[in-house]
Amino acid sequence: MENKKQDTASALKDIISHAKEYGFVFPSSEIYDGLQAVYDYGQNGVELKNNLKMVWWKAMTMLNDNVVGIDASIFMHPLTWKASGHIDSFNDPMIDNKDSKKRYRADTLLEDRAAQYEADGQADVGKALLQKMAKTLDAGDLEAVRQIIIDENITCPVSNTANWTEVRQFNLMFSTQVGAVSEDASLIYLRPETAQGIFVNFLNVQKTGRMKVPFGIAQIGKAFRNEIVARNFIFRMREFEQMEMQFFVRPGTEMEWYAAWKEVRMKFHQAIGLPASKLKFHDHEKLAHYANAAVDIEYEFPFGFKEMEGIHSRTDFDLKAHQDLSRKKQQYFDPEINENYIPYVIETSVGADRLFLAILCNAYKEEIVGEGDQQKQRIYLNLHPAIAPIKVAVLPLVKKDGLAEKAQEINRSLKFAFNTTYDEGGAIGKRYTRQDLIGTPYCVVIDYQTMEDDTVTVRDRNTMSQERISIADLKEKLGYAVSMERIFEKLLV
Ligand code: GAP
Repeated sequence: MENKKQDTASALKDIISHAKEYGFVFPSSEIYDGLQAVYDYGQNGVELKNNLKMVWWKAMTMLNDNVVGIDASIFMHPLTWKASGHIDSFNDPMIDNKDSKKRYRADTLLEDRAAQYEADGQADVGKALLQKMAKTLDAGDLEAVRQIIIDENITCPVSNTANWTEVRQFNLMFSTQVGAVSEDASLIYLRPETAQGIFVNFLNVQKTGRMKVPFGIAQIGKAFRNEIVARNFIFRMREFEQMEMQFFVRPGTEMEWYAAWKEVRMKFHQAIGLPASKLKFHDHEKLAHYANAAVDIEYEFPFGFKEMEGIHSRTDFDLKAHQDLSRKKQQYFDPEINENYIPYVIETSVGADRLFLAILCNAYKEEIVGEGDQQKQRIYLNLHPAIAPIKVAVLPLVKKDGLAEKAQEINRSLKFAFNTTYDEGGAIGKRYTRQDLIGTPYCVVIDYQTMEDDTVTVRDRNTMSQERISIADLKEKLGYAVSMERIFEKLLV
């Protein structure tokens, strides 16, 4: 058990250092010792993240005729959050250990205990514990939640004591003032989810786009939560990005659409390279205040199976609440059944940063290559070519004899089609390694034969094998190999 803990901790540590060393993720404001749970994406990280966002965006809006996108503001009228229930209910139950002064989420302590039961072969006991927790939390009985923690003999990992405070609710929204003069200023919030920007624009999009139910609205954007416990690198941050889609359906059909979107979303994660064995559905025991069914798609991170995406059947909760508070009708006239109704909603919500972390964890490979005393360790990122930050590195074998000029010419001819890089410095092996470390799928090498017959070698990142191909075929062959089309083809089967 101890060893396993060590392994998973060091696996995440390796990924964090790799992410920093090779320009993927840096701690925010690092020169001031960083800001907890806030991170910056570096030159390679931003490309990878943009590719993930683009593939999600296109999978939603381009592949589905009835899904369109919007880009709503982060600031919204404060009544939005009253209607959505976030002001009253967007709380986490927290508990402090009086000896270590460390603060924990009470539900996380119990979830961890349930996971431990499951790992010890007592899945039923774990499940019962989660159900008991859900019941007490739903009833708002915080004293009972504390009692379960004590009955389970849960201790603080720092002080090793069970000297707990009472459980208190803590609202996760960040607030700020809008208005220049403090007397006139009013309290507004940084959105804790992007979904509400979609709900308040439901009729705008439906009417101007002449959309017919069922239809969806997709959005990518920042969300902010004052998380009590921020841990596991970019898994739980205070500023993060969500990719959400609200799918508006006729009431009574929501369970069919819920089942359909569950499958679509699972397929997406596999199509971008996450293995089926590391993905699973996890039904919610405790439903959010707006949902009548909810499931997470979990990925097996180095710290265990954890939520990457949430799929919720949100009923008509949000539109109805906005209608009630704004007194503006949020109804849709369905010409097929000649009826007005407030649509029900299926939501798919995936964190761009969590998806990024899953992809990075999955891609990170350490292997031993070579024979005998030539053996050495090789590290590379096995990223799907379509999401890799750089698709092709163009490398002249040597700088002299016109090879560099030829390589630059080839680089120029490819760079309009996809992201390339040109590198002429150092031994060719070192240059391959530099590309492996950031996950570049192909290296094109210009050698002396190129000068004679206009062919180049293309080296594959994963197999390290080389193929000789004609310069005339490069753009088309590599263009297809690195295109998002290859992902979309898998989604449509
Ligand atoms: N609109 C529904 C909603 O916001 P959620 O389960 O709270 O549901 C959806 O969040 C997704 O957003 C999560 O599955 C996760 O990927 C991401 N997410 C939530 N909180 C996060 C945080 N603090 N840091 C990074 N990602 C987060």
